[in-house]
Amino acid sequence: ALRSGRTRTMGLVVLDVTNPFFTDVAKGVEAAADASGMIVTLCNSDQDGPRERRYLDHLEEQRVQGILITPVEARNPHLEQIIDRGTPVVLLDCRTRKRNRCSVAVDDVLGGRLAAEHLLAQGHRRVAFAGGPRSISQVADRRRGAAAAVAEAGGEAALTFLETPSLSFTSGRHAGEQLLETDPARRPTAVFCANDLLALGLLQELTARGLRVPDDVALVGYDDIDYAAAAAVPLSSVRQPREELGKVAAELLLEEIDEGESHRHRHVLFEPELVVRASSARP
Ligand code: RIB
Repeated sequence: ALRSGRTRTMGLVVLDVTNPFFTDVAKGVEAAADASGMIVTLCNSDQDGPRERRYLDHLEEQRVQGILITPVEARNPHLEQIIDRGTPVVLLDCRTRKRNRCSVAVDDVLGGRLAAEHLLAQGHRRVAFAGGPRSISQVADRRRGAAAAVAEAGGEAALTFLETPSLSFTSGRHAGEQLLETDPARRPTAVFCANDLLALGLLQELTARGLRVPDDVALVGYDDIDYAAAAAVPLSSVRQPREELGKVAAELLLEEIDEGESHRHRHVLFEPELVVRASSARP
């Protein structure tokens, strides 16, 4: 049963509403919420901490039944206060083992490992990781998995970093510019991107500047959004079960709402799956 004195609404706070990853997640959330007669209020934090805090305050004031959130920062005292004051929260696409909230995510450390192992198996030794900021726990986990795989490869395998201010298409373009400034003799021959938007921006910049993918630079993205397969050079990507993530997160929240006051701690972790396409095929 829904909690009395609260609206028939759940809040969904996403990092970047222009990222198809989140629209697919939102579709799964909305389907589960609608099946329970609830409305979803969508908030776009745009990876901005103060804006996220404003939205969390608004949702609490609006007495929503619960909140699904992909937080800007893993360390999030404002979110802790919201939870402590009694609003159920489920972390979406963000791992935690904290005992007063639920979470649904993909094992991003494994996902990063799968991407790097694939590029190493293709013969690449100078691999770059493109993404940021590292304060986003998913980015840090993917980076950590890739770094572990490269370290285990030993020999002359090396991982360098193309830090980006965000996970947007534009950031991918800028990462491409950075890559082109590297001395060709030392330039990475493969780039693992923290998500598909970055990879698509990078692909556009590299091809616009005359480099060939995968022959000059191989690319692997993350999420496997629909546009990955449709890219000018079909993009290899680590697949996340996007609608399923949203559906399971909403169902966990609905169960917690139904259970009454106690905060539950169910942590669901999906396996990532590497989908290999032309952008990282052996040249
Ligand atoms: O927006 C942040 C990224 O983290 C998304 O592309 C998705 O990969 C999420 O996990």
